Amino acid sequence: MKVNLKILTFNKILKKAPIVSLDGQPVLLFNQQHLSLLIALEHKKVKVFSECRNGYCGACKTTIISGSVSYHTQPLVTLKADECLPCCCTPTSDLDLKLSPEGCDVVTRPGITAAQIIQPQTKS
Ligand code: FES
Repeated sequence: MKVNLKILTFNKILKKAPIVSLDGQPVLLFNQQHLSLLIALEHKKVKVFSECRNGYCGACKTTIISGSVSYHTQPLVTLKADECLPCCCTPTSDLDLKLSPEGCDVVTRPGITAAQIIQPQTKS
């Protein structure tokens, strides 16, 4: 079955599941089964350091390349405009985070392996 990522893209009217990407590589569709972005990332084996898991310590602070999030508990940590705390937020749009997709289960198309997507292209 072919999956067209453009069809799965978040749409405010239709409330499609946001696509969460790491350094531009799509890794998951965020849905209501995930209580937080951190839980969804851990489910995909993405390594995100965390401690309190409630927005108090800032250990999980992550840079947002593009997209937006909303918080279900207001964080006590000061954040820059391009940062989020995955432990207490959920994506409100497609989201690209500055995290390495290495070692996680990535979304692939038939005939393309995850290794081919993650490997940087070398110029000849
Ligand atoms: S783990 Fe402490 S703020 Fe996220």
